[in-house]
Amino acid sequence: MPKNALLKIDDKEIACPVMTGSEGEKAIDARNLRKDSGYIFYDQGYGNTGSCESAITYLDGDNGILRHRGYPIEQLAARSEFVETAYLVIYGELPTKTQRKKFGDLLRQNAHIEPQMQRLFEGYPKDTPPMAMLASLVASLAGYYPDLATNNFEHDLKQFDLSAAMAISKIRTLGAMIYRHTRGLPFMHPKDLPFCDNFLHLMFSEPYHDYAVIPEVTQALNLILLMHADHEQNCSSATVRMVGSSGANLFTSLAAGIGALSGPLHGGANMAVMQMLQSIHDEHDDGSRFIAAAKGGSKSNRLMGFGHAVYRNFDPRAKVIGEACGLVLKKLGKSDPLLDIAHHLEQAALKDDYFISRKLYPNVDFYSGIIFRALGIPTNLFTVMFAIGRAPGWIANWREVASNPKGRIYRPRQIYTGPVKRDYVPMDQRG
Ligand code: ACO
Repeated sequence: MPKNALLKIDDKEIACPVMTGSEGEKAIDARNLRKDSGYIFYDQGYGNTGSCESAITYLDGDNGILRHRGYPIEQLAARSEFVETAYLVIYGELPTKTQRKKFGDLLRQNAHIEPQMQRLFEGYPKDTPPMAMLASLVASLAGYYPDLATNNFEHDLKQFDLSAAMAISKIRTLGAMIYRHTRGLPFMHPKDLPFCDNFLHLMFSEPYHDYAVIPEVTQALNLILLMHADHEQNCSSATVRMVGSSGANLFTSLAAGIGALSGPLHGGANMAVMQMLQSIHDEHDDGSRFIAAAKGGSKSNRLMGFGHAVYRNFDPRAKVIGEACGLVLKKLGKSDPLLDIAHHLEQAALKDDYFISRKLYPNVDFYSGIIFRALGIPTNLFTVMFAIGRAPGWIANWREVASNPKGRIYRPRQIYTGPVKRDYVPMDQRG
């Protein structure tokens, strides 16, 4: 017997069906509420609104649980690698040997950027923000591969395997090209290498001196990309879904997701964390100035890398990355004073009533920058690294939207607070 929730407004009772997800999450189906009663639910920023059904990622923020297609993030971190997890997130199952090979081959075959497209870089000033370049370059893919980006779901889905592999592989290649462009270095051509090694080659090889693979570096890069592969209905994935819901092709939808990720409250936080740790280091401060400022309540002074829109206990990704940080530095034979500062800051904040009472813990961005730095990746490229890692999640979300025969365009409502109806006033009569 289907359950209903009863909503009583004035003297009218409205029945809204109750929905339950596969992990027992509960929702009230409000799709007909406005039709039945004239009311909408108001939920600024959609913090308590389920905008879709999705089979990709399960997240329980109260208990620090994150699973992709049912697999706990901790198990994937320990036993999988980025490309395999990307396949899982996109296609729903861990790949067989044959599927993994086919996927890897497609990634390798589509790693290059067309010479004509490479010329787009000539138009970007060297100091263009990397995420701005990435968003516009990814949008441009629709122009270089028009047959994969027709804005017709049925057609675009027939070529999905190719467009998905292209997007993952080319976003990685573009990330490295952006790095080289900002440094005035010549571009490297992709090689027949595994995904992460190819990235490191594209970043760090020199014309007559190839990057030499360091297994520890490859492993650390694999881990950190994997940890970003998907994260339920976060700001950028919800953006990809929203843009995709209008019928937009994969590349255009991904470009919108990259724009959403670039903000400091989302993917841009990893850069802000490093800037914060660096200034604590440079000023020989113990972090107390940042902690005191963060408690002032201003959005621009928040303790970066702390807090999360859904995790209220701990961010399981931060736990894995925080633990990996020390190990990676040790394996690479490096030390980083910023890691000690991060540890100290974390301990100080976790003892402070302001952070305890608001359930603010380190998030994924708090430690990820230290690993990126150890790999030789400059701070201004951190959010691009996040985008390379998150591409599989965005692609999987776009695919769910595109292949849902009952899907409708995302079109939230609002509560209008502007002036009520008034008559036009000619200019000479305006006060
Ligand atoms: N520093 C200080 N205070 C904070 C912080 C912080 N980092 N985060 C939240 N708060 C405060 C809020 O001001 C609010 O205080 P109030 O109750 O006195 O008004 C309270 O804690 C509760 O805030 P939330 O509702 O939990 O925050 P919200 O969901 O609006 O924002 C967000 C979540 C954007 C992640 C926020 O915690 C933040 O700005 N963190 C810093 C930026 C950051 O690290 N972003 C990365 C997020 S992870 C990711 O996108 C990959």
